[in-house]
Amino acid sequence: MNLPLLETTEYQPVATRPGPAGRRVYIETYGCQMNVADSELVASILADAGFQITEQAEQADIILLNTCAVREHAEERVIGRVSQLNGLRAHRPNLTLGILGCMAQHLSKTLPDRAPFVDLVMGPDSYRRLPQLLSQSSDDALLDVRLDRSENYSGVHPQRTTGTNAWVTIIRGCDKFCTFCIVPFVRGRERSVAADQIVRQVQHIAAEGFKEVTLLGQTVNSYRADDVDFADLLRQVSQVEGIERVRFTSPYPVDFTDRVIDAMAEVGPVCPSLHLPVQSGSDEQLARMRRGYTVDQYRQLVHKLRAALPDLALTTDIITGFCGETDADFRQTCDLMEEIRYDSAFMFKYSEREGTYAHKKLPDDVPQAVKGERLQHIIALQEGISRQINQQQVGRTVEVLVEGPSKRPAADGQPRYYGRTPQGKTAIFPQLAASNELVAVHIARTTSHTLFGDRIDDAA
Ligand code: SAH
Ligand code: F3S
Repeated sequence: MNLPLLETTEYQPVATRPGPAGRRVYIETYGCQMNVADSELVASILADAGFQITEQAEQADIILLNTCAVREHAEERVIGRVSQLNGLRAHRPNLTLGILGCMAQHLSKTLPDRAPFVDLVMGPDSYRRLPQLLSQSSDDALLDVRLDRSENYSGVHPQRTTGTNAWVTIIRGCDKFCTFCIVPFVRGRERSVAADQIVRQVQHIAAEGFKEVTLLGQTVNSYRADDVDFADLLRQVSQVEGIERVRFTSPYPVDFTDRVIDAMAEVGPVCPSLHLPVQSGSDEQLARMRRGYTVDQYRQLVHKLRAALPDLALTTDIITGFCGETDADFRQTCDLMEEIRYDSAFMFKYSEREGTYAHKKLPDDVPQAVKGERLQHIIALQEGISRQINQQQVGRTVEVLVEGPSKRPAADGQPRYYGRTPQGKTAIFPQLAASNELVAVHIARTTSHTLFGDRIDDAA
């Protein structure tokens, strides 16, 4: 049976590793990079227990969807997908279907009704128990959604996809409780991984051939383990031999210290790119969201960052139509976007999430149509800004860490290669290059999302 692939941004199978003969497991990942990293943990835990990881859903004995609960749309997609996968049972009556991750945690009570054919529902703190649960059989769905304040999967070495960038989770959970956000409820309390363990992981990653690491956390710069803070950790990780680029996502604006700015400016491998979620340009809305900063405080932080890192690429997250958002609030968001001029932005319509403060206390009073119009407006605004910013790259030579052949060849059918610049922008060029190679590319033209040019160092 041929299953249609979902959008590549939302569909990331983990790599196949030949394992001991055993039941075959297919894992499909939705949502943020933390979920991608969690799927790598799950693959490792299962492979160590004798399961075999496969990239083909059709060949699997066990199919696990690692899910996202941040917006309703994400949950609906998973329900649709799991119903479709259930169709495989016609040929594989013993197929086990499981839902892992944030949506499993969020909908643990209602999932058995909404998707009665699901065999297993497991939250993000329970993955060590996965081999044990998969070995049990039950007529009812097996459920494990305990949140565990201490679980940070120390000692598990994730089974990473091949590529140039390795994700390293340094802090799990979130304690901020922004009023719109489900994450603290489904991922539990904040906990940091010990620094020596992180450094060991990064050494291992470098030995595997990766040149780039991205440190991950919902509030990654809130990291603290014993007396090591995030600034110290950036310096320690950057010293690991073989690691050429260090990135991190997502920092929380309030917890951004001068020490981190200094580390970013002083430490060579730390890339000049930063995803700094702002959410809104209105002080009233930021207060209603309980983000903990005003527009002016955010602006001051951006000024400090840009003074210390002149070639910094800045990206953000913005929500339109959050409870009580007026036209005037929305215009302030547009004004802030024009003032800050982000390189790019992830933009979302507010989606009410059961259990959050906003769901309990704030009416979701902006009509869907208005949310949608506002979203379209800022998407167009950002497209224009991104296009202008990228145009400034024309004529420059940038260092590109090559990821591999581009999925889309040139108009004449010739292959092209792609990779990312230190600012995190995608660059495409026609000259041959090997995955994981650092090459110099001279930029000839740009769009709002991509830089195009020619490799100008000694191409083979
Ligand atoms: N700190 C996290 C945020 C996770 S959620 C991080 O690592 O990025 C990612 C983004 O989704 C948020 O920044 C916010 O812009 C958006 N988001 C979260 N809850 C939302 C909701 N209920 N409706 C719409 N967008 C939401
Ligand atoms: Fe969500 Fe705010 Fe934490 S957006 S992940 S509650 S910082």
